[in-house]
Amino acid sequence: MKNITVVCPGSFDPVTKGHIDIIKRASQMFEKIIVVVMPNATKTPSFTVEERVDLLRRTAGAIENVEVDCYNGLLANYMRKKDASAIVKGLRAMSDFEYEFQMALTNKKLYPEADTFFLAANSENMYLSSSIVKLVGSMGGDISDFVPEEIYEDIKLRLSGKEDKK
Ligand code: PNS
Repeated sequence: MKNITVVCPGSFDPVTKGHIDIIKRASQMFEKIIVVVMPNATKTPSFTVEERVDLLRRTAGAIENVEVDCYNGLLANYMRKKDASAIVKGLRAMSDFEYEFQMALTNKKLYPEADTFFLAANSENMYLSSSIVKLVGSMGGDISDFVPEEIYEDIKLRLSGKEDKK
């Protein structure tokens, strides 16, 4: 597709196989992808922004045209700063649509130079979210199908609350 930089924003708390699928597919469509970790004021995080960036760098960061960053502010301002032309987001079900559409319209108003592309989630990942990973992981359930293998142990340890707290 066109020679443009796109931004893939999210809270990624933590990154899931569903996110990786969307980032991989976007990386095959666009010249450069910047995955940006942003705070979501409506959610209580389990991982710091630095930890989330690290988890993303060890997974999505391995893709040649993918860069991982973080930003605390409006997405529209970040887009302007990076001279990015589009936002890419994954859509799982209709329940995602209303919120995502509202975000897309707000971002278009604040930064008209960019459009939002929605990629339909792979059917295997339709049910998957960071919240589900956190819920299952915190109750000792198996999250190995939900998160990338490279970071599975780190996520499992954090969510189980069994980290060494010296
Ligand atoms: O993975 P999430 O939690 O659905 O990601 C939501 C996120 C972080 C992309 C969204 O909350 C966001 O864009 N936050 C930055 C503030 C902003 O620009 N909001 C959109 C316009 S109101």
